[in-house]
Amino acid sequence: MSHSPRDAARYIKDFVLTSKTKTEYININGNKIPVYTNEFWTSKQRQASSIHEISYRACFKPQLPRFFINLLTQEGDIVYDPFSGRGTTAIEAGILGRNIVSNDINPLSRILTLPRFFVPNVIEVKERLENITYDTKLRADIDLSMFYHPKTEAEIVSLKNYLKQRESEKKEDIVDLWIRMVATNRLTGHSPGFFSVYTLPPNQAVTAERQQLINAKRNQKPEYRDTKKLIMKKTKSLIRNIKEQEILNLRKTGNSALFLSEDARRTPQIPNESVSLTVTSPPFLDVVQYDSDNWLRCWFNGIDAKKVANTITMSKNIQEWSCVMEEVFYELYRITKKGGWVAFEVGEVKGGKIKLDEYVVPLGQKAGFCCQGILINLQEFTKTSNIWGIGNNKSGTNTNRIVLFVKD
Ligand SMILES: C[S@@+](CC[C@H](N)C(=O)[O-])C[C@H]1O[C@@H](n2cnc3c(N)ncnc32)[C@H](O)[C@@H]1O
Repeated sequence: MSHSPRDAARYIKDFVLTSKTKTEYININGNKIPVYTNEFWTSKQRQASSIHEISYRACFKPQLPRFFINLLTQEGDIVYDPFSGRGTTAIEAGILGRNIVSNDINPLSRILTLPRFFVPNVIEVKERLENITYDTKLRADIDLSMFYHPKTEAEIVSLKNYLKQRESEKKEDIVDLWIRMVATNRLTGHSPGFFSVYTLPPNQAVTAERQQLINAKRNQKPEYRDTKKLIMKKTKSLIRNIKEQEILNLRKTGNSALFLSEDARRTPQIPNESVSLTVTSPPFLDVVQYDSDNWLRCWFNGIDAKKVANTITMSKNIQEWSCVMEEVFYELYRITKKGGWVAFEVGEVKGGKIKLDEYVVPLGQKAGFCCQGILINLQEFTKTSNIWGIGNNKSGTNTNRIVLFVKD
């Protein structure tokens, strides 16, 4: 759905008028920018599909991209996320029958996203797993004894070797990719549903030394975990509420999808003026220790975690962050269709002290976009806040701040 900026402004105004939205205005560099506050998407709305349930640092809820995809695009339009993470925007767009481009400089993003566009049959996954031979004497090339029972470790190494061989022989098919994705997700975690002894949640692998401390403190020793059984369990859980039509939509989208592992500032593979909507949330100022968070996931997939860590944008301050995002906006402007949209989500940084949205507005404008406003999604807006009390809203309420742009 493309709009000229004047239409777009009216369209958004009409939209906010039909909902009980609080509208305020802020002045940014002499421009009056509307700030709309509402519970635009709620946990009460249609539940998110179980297919999204892959953990990833700083991911957003599927309801956020769904809101913008439904509001601003039609079937067949291209939806893009330059900082795709676990692929929330891409998967939701696929479910809704849109085409997608998914980019993230972290190669784990593609490993965790692509297979869900080609949901395999449970029986195929079971049969494939049954045919993988586990060598119980195998050990990892690094000490993983603090995470895994020796038999579990042997299974993980066998699986790693099997996937590596399939890849090098160019035989890796969608069932293998699915197993790789699920196994990567199951490597470590805080429940018996994971391969490891109790540790931090799955997207935050701790160091070997730290795990030894956790084990000593909890007086725990890794118990055997049946990796094939756990992969089957997670497979069934991921597809437990997905509908046949959604699986078909995802496959159709997947067949023409573009998966990139580029710096979001330079994506020459994406043609000029091809994207109808971008929904994204960038890396924030908070320093996420990429290599320590992902070393085990990278080890399993034969990825050099240190090398990847060096390419991830980790800005020390707002000036550095703005310089990177300025270039991202120029690239988004190039690839966005006339009348196309960008929904740029920024969280509340440093407890709301830094309002990144107010930095983002001029960056988008400089690249040529027209800012349509800032949308603040307050969960349970109507219950927890009255129209005058939003400013006192306590933390604990999940707040998203989205800067919305349109291309003239
Ligand atoms: C806040 S997360 C996005 C999460 C995503 N919305 C989701 O739901 O999973 C930011 C992502 O940006 C990626 N990233 C960091 N610097 C990048 C860059 N320069 N270019 C492309 N991706 C980058 C990180 O790897 C991370 O996955």
